[in-house]
Amino acid sequence: MHILILGGDGYLGWPSAMYFSARGHQVTVVDNYFRRKACIDVDADFLYPVPSLPERARIWHKATGREIKVILADLSDSETMRGLFSGAVRYTWALDERFTGLPHTILHYAEQPSAPYSLLDYRRANITLANNLITTNNLMFAVKDFAPDTHIIHIGTMGEYGTPNIDIEEGWLDIEHKGRRDRFLFPRQASSIYHTSKIMDTDLFWFGIRTWKLRMTDLMQGPVYGIETEESRVDERLRPYFNYDEIFGTVINRFVVQSVARHPLTVYGKGGQTRGYLNICDTLQCVYKSFETPANPGELRIFNQITETFTVNELAERVQRVGTERGHAVQVNHVENPRKEAEEHYYNPAYQGLQGIGVTPHPLTDDVLHGFFAIVEEHKANIKPELFLKGVRW
Ligand SMILES: NC(=O)c1ccc[n+]([C@@H]2O[C@H](COP(=O)([O-])OP(=O)(O)OC[C@H]3O[C@@H](n4cnc5c(N)ncnc54)[C@H](O)[C@@H]3O)[C@@H](O)[C@H]2O)c1
Repeated sequence: MHILILGGDGYLGWPSAMYFSARGHQVTVVDNYFRRKACIDVDADFLYPVPSLPERARIWHKATGREIKVILADLSDSETMRGLFSGAVRYTWALDERFTGLPHTILHYAEQPSAPYSLLDYRRANITLANNLITTNNLMFAVKDFAPDTHIIHIGTMGEYGTPNIDIEEGWLDIEHKGRRDRFLFPRQASSIYHTSKIMDTDLFWFGIRTWKLRMTDLMQGPVYGIETEESRVDERLRPYFNYDEIFGTVINRFVVQSVARHPLTVYGKGGQTRGYLNICDTLQCVYKSFETPANPGELRIFNQITETFTVNELAERVQRVGTERGHAVQVNHVENPRKEAEEHYYNPAYQGLQGIGVTPHPLTDDVLHGFFAIVEEHKANIKPELFLKGVRW
């Protein structure tokens, strides 16, 4: 099958490209290095250097004989997006430069993914809204005009729901009101401009699905942790890029790096904040199972993509235990919370849907953490502790 991956240079996009390629699919990745440039803009840094996207495709080809076609282009430009479907856009790197044709499935990762980035100032808020919403709208219209039967898999976020005082269902809620019943998108209440842009993505797609019978799976994902995937073991230069700073780093990733740097773990406020988390390998599995069992035309299928829930304090305890076993003398600090969020709250999301289509979840065990620590330790010399907390408030 031809799989088109938007945002294919990203933390999740590149491992997805290798995952589908390894399973015999023809993969095309598109990216404009938005994230790499944003990291330079906000003085964030990767834990280790990462080759350019065409270079990674060449390394992958040399190691496996498989081709991942690369297009470096900005998807917030509507003609560029449409060119992916008409064949007008040129490959930056490909063994066979002939147009692959319309995609069977599109993975849409191409967005600005950081809440603190979106609240740095009005300029970054505008960049987030413009980039995420225009890219999503470009995609929706291109699919409607060129490939209406193509299955879109979009990565949403559990942050769209916020932390309501009722159980969180998988995307939909049945409502009875004055004796009548109907089904609506589960109420959403984001705590950042980034999360708001993701809510608006869902609303845009839901409009297109109702109106033009498009088909989409929206995966409401929790924060992802980890570095290594089965495919990146082929050559360590194929590992995804990895941030540990306060703007682009996610909490477990940051805690492991902080432990290795002998920096106290930065628990925000009381640490009772509860969220759902998953291993990067489970992200790949969830996306792949969604591809194998596509949504029907006219269906907006929503899964909550998490493996288990933890409070921040529970995460800190686990990382501290494993870090200490590895000789890192890990301390836990409760720092003033830079976020506006409830630090103790009810949180009970449903997340059985993906298991229902065949996903086998991998929990965060001590063994998993040991493997994660081992990779971070290899790059200890690169860690810049000044990036852990720079005082961004959001
Ligand atoms: N990583 C997580 O923990 C997590 C959790 C929940 C949801 N998500 C969602 O998953 C998706 C992928 O996240 P990620 O962590 O891989 O982020 P990422 O920033 O690493 O990947 C996104 C990629 O899209 C590219 N991109 C952005 N705008 C583009 C444009 N206009 N044209 C072309 N390329 C563009 C970026 O350069 C980047 O390589 C995002 O939509 C994010 O909201 C991620």
